Amino acid sequence: MCGIVGYTGKATALSPVLEGLRRLEYRGYDSAGIALAVTQGEPLWIEKRAGKLGNLESTLTTVPDAHSGIGHTRWATHGGPTDRNAHPHLDNEGKLALIHNGIIENYVELREELEKRGHTFKSETDTESVVHLLSDARKKHGGDLAAAMREVCSQLRGSFTLLAIHSDEPGRIVGARRNSPLVVGVGDGENFLASDVSAFIAHTKHALELGQDEVVDITATNIVITNLEGDILPQKAYEISWDASAAERGGFEHFMLKEIYEQPKAVADTLIGRTAGLDPEITAGINLEGISKVVIIACGTAFHAGLVGKYAIEKWANISVDVELASEYRYREPSVDGNTLVIPISQSGETMDTLMAMRYARSKGARVFAVCNTNGSTIPRESDAVLYTHAGPEIAVASTKAFLTQLIAMYLIALHLGTVRGSLTSAEHDEIVGHLAELPSKIEQVLETVEPLRALTRQFKEAASMLFLGRHVGFPTALEGALKLKELAYMHAEGFAGGELKHGPIALIDQGTPVVAVMPAFGSLLAEKMASNVQEVKARGAIIIAIGDGDLPSADHMIRIPATHPFLEPVLAVVPLQVIAYEMAIARGNDVDQPRNLAKSVTVE
Ligand code: M6R
Repeated sequence: MCGIVGYTGKATALSPVLEGLRRLEYRGYDSAGIALAVTQGEPLWIEKRAGKLGNLESTLTTVPDAHSGIGHTRWATHGGPTDRNAHPHLDNEGKLALIHNGIIENYVELREELEKRGHTFKSETDTESVVHLLSDARKKHGGDLAAAMREVCSQLRGSFTLLAIHSDEPGRIVGARRNSPLVVGVGDGENFLASDVSAFIAHTKHALELGQDEVVDITATNIVITNLEGDILPQKAYEISWDASAAERGGFEHFMLKEIYEQPKAVADTLIGRTAGLDPEITAGINLEGISKVVIIACGTAFHAGLVGKYAIEKWANISVDVELASEYRYREPSVDGNTLVIPISQSGETMDTLMAMRYARSKGARVFAVCNTNGSTIPRESDAVLYTHAGPEIAVASTKAFLTQLIAMYLIALHLGTVRGSLTSAEHDEIVGHLAELPSKIEQVLETVEPLRALTRQFKEAASMLFLGRHVGFPTALEGALKLKELAYMHAEGFAGGELKHGPIALIDQGTPVVAVMPAFGSLLAEKMASNVQEVKARGAIIIAIGDGDLPSADHMIRIPATHPFLEPVLAVVPLQVIAYEMAIARGNDVDQPRNLAKSVTVE
């Protein structure tokens, strides 16, 4: 939930640290801070401010030269978003600085103990306990910051990425992680630590993975990774496949709009080389035979992709599928065994609830086949197999292209299971694959309707609420449309299954309530049913915006999408819903890429 960056090397540290923070700001943006090691043995230079990174930047007029530093952009958990609670936190001498992402669950007891030992606290954060603990441990270990970090990590409960710097050794930064992301960027005469690779992608494409409970100790020219016992571990290197321009706005007003327009490519990249069957390299680690049920676990938008996946897997692979909110699944001790296939879906690969739900299922023997967009993140690392989506970096907090590629991944898995289980004929398989291959160009066609749709959306900017209706795979599409509108427009929005309307939700309809109807394929039985639902709400005063591949006479506004296979419709129908949410956010004066109270990657419970 917070963005973390560390730099040590030949450059003036402020520049790569600030650049990293700009790229990581999507992770949290209620305060930001930087600590630089300027002069050996002297207190660190530190600046931190509540509010977005811009607030901090406006104070950085005279910054001393330093060649190492750490920076943090925060999504508050313990302690409000104030200057004092912003990271970095310092020890009492001001020579040791620490930044943290995650939650230290035992911070209260640690704080009481540390206060008894004479430490003075300046913030309400859980993090500050760790810096004092680290300070004592460092003294105990004769100034060895890495040894101190290993000892401290053993005393912490909860989740954390930690980075620390001490002015006695200005060129050294020590990091650690547990259930929270941290990657190493390997440069030439400079090295980086960050929450994700976008922070240093402009400088190096060489990265190292860090595992659970590992401590990393970097200088400009050296990297040492150990476990908490101090054993040196082999380095797991990988190359980053995208470049810096992918993490920039490239002329678009917002990242979200850029990412909406990137969807044809993201879908094409995710399909490439996979429609004839999944590469055996992908499925090598997992036995997909003899499965008795499938459980999909995810949060938010990824959960909606899972719901669509359920329709496809049940139909094409003839197997029962449960789709579970990860936060609910993990605490209710559900029945799961070695014949259960668990599919966690996660863009970031770090969502705490999804990770914990997956670990629970694994502990019961389940086979885990992850869908993920982030190479080397924790969820794929802990899975038996992973189907990577190729959406590229998604920076806007609201998920768009990652969702479309998650849908594609679910169709590919459903096709694969259908083939393995012999429930899908090759003619059916080929027909679906033919439709999948056409999706990138059909999304392009939908994108041609963006400008008129933006104008239409503005008409509803004063609406108190907006409702979304769908049936079959149109139902999760409606849920996704409502979630997008809530998170971006801060507006009441609900998604309903068309058939559920008369069981309660229809009471919400008032004169002028905008209702978006995600129409099933025209000519189908479900399209007739939805047309009746539309009549029901229209008769009660609703204004109908229909999305579909034909014309609905009762619609006040019709948004046409190309026809496709009925199960693939969400890939096209959700694009106008993303645009509606995007435009509504602008019309209501909201921050599109960084909506209030949210963060991109939810690495805390
Ligand atoms: O990284 P994940 O896919 O695991 O994230 C799950 C949700 O937090 C995420 O989809 C969230 O709902 C989006 N911001 C919605 O646009």
